[in-house]
Amino acid sequence: MSRNHLQIIYSRQDTSPEPVILEVKRLTKSFTSADSEQTIALKDLSFSIRQKEMVCLLGRSGCGKSTLLKLLAGFIKPSAGEILLNGEPLHHPGPACCMVFQEDALFPWLTVKENIAFGLANKPMTRRQKLQEVDRFIDLIGLNGFGSYLPREVSGGMKQRVALARVLILQPRILLMDEPFAALDAQTREQMQSLLQDLRRQFAPTVLFVTHDVTEALLLGDRVLLFDKNPGRISHDIKVGLPQTRSVDNEAFLRLRTHINQQLKEE
Ligand SMILES: Nc1ncnc2c1ncn2[C@@H]1O[C@H](COP(=O)(O)OP(=O)(O)OP(=O)(O)O)[C@@H](O)[C@H]1O
Ligand SMILES: [Mg+2]
Repeated sequence: MSRNHLQIIYSRQDTSPEPVILEVKRLTKSFTSADSEQTIALKDLSFSIRQKEMVCLLGRSGCGKSTLLKLLAGFIKPSAGEILLNGEPLHHPGPACCMVFQEDALFPWLTVKENIAFGLANKPMTRRQKLQEVDRFIDLIGLNGFGSYLPREVSGGMKQRVALARVLILQPRILLMDEPFAALDAQTREQMQSLLQDLRRQFAPTVLFVTHDVTEALLLGDRVLLFDKNPGRISHDIKVGLPQTRSVDNEAFLRLRTHINQQLKEE
């Protein structure tokens, strides 16, 4: 299989009625270190994502997954190429693409409630409306009774729930998640995965989700993009095509997981 060619595996005819929301066109990002060494983190990356799709990104360490998310969030600028949101160049800063990180990025001096409310500060809503909205999200993430706790007073899983609520309350068009559950124990991680599935059913955001866990990618994703390293680019675009309720014991699931693991080993 040519490594320079994007492989589309198990692709059925794309009959999805949803419009394309995000287009990445020949995106390149290089970094120059202090001693003038150049690293090409991403090279000529092109793909598009449909509205409400959940796309998982898998690939070895250093292949540019976080760099891609940072470019989409506008934390860094592309060296070349374009990012289009609904056909228009993506403008930053803006609430269109919001990020949830691996380690909780909550404000330690604000309570759970204040952290969730933070992004609403400039919204044209009354104080009462904001409070109601925050309460609704606290309820959704199952943290009733913890609103006045500080981040250090709640568990890692709870902090990630708050991080998720804090972003979802802004109704981002695209939710960017960089290994959001990687630091959690297995049981909490499973709870977070099913919370994310519930929230997706309710809010139907478009999601780009970075993980190192092939099982997690196949449990959650509609599509999986495998990244190649040096320079970072997409090697495989895989439509998962499994039923919405997935089981890790299912034969099709296991076959796909073995296949992806093999591809990752070869890279
Ligand atoms: N600010 C930076 N300055 C210089 N090089 C950088 C910078 N950020 C990332 N890189 C380089 O770009 C490449 C891609 O890094 P990136 O963090 O995107 O990888 P990743 O796929 O997210 O890896 P991991 O799975 O370990 O999180 C790496 O070689 C990294 O060293
Ligand atoms: Mg990373």
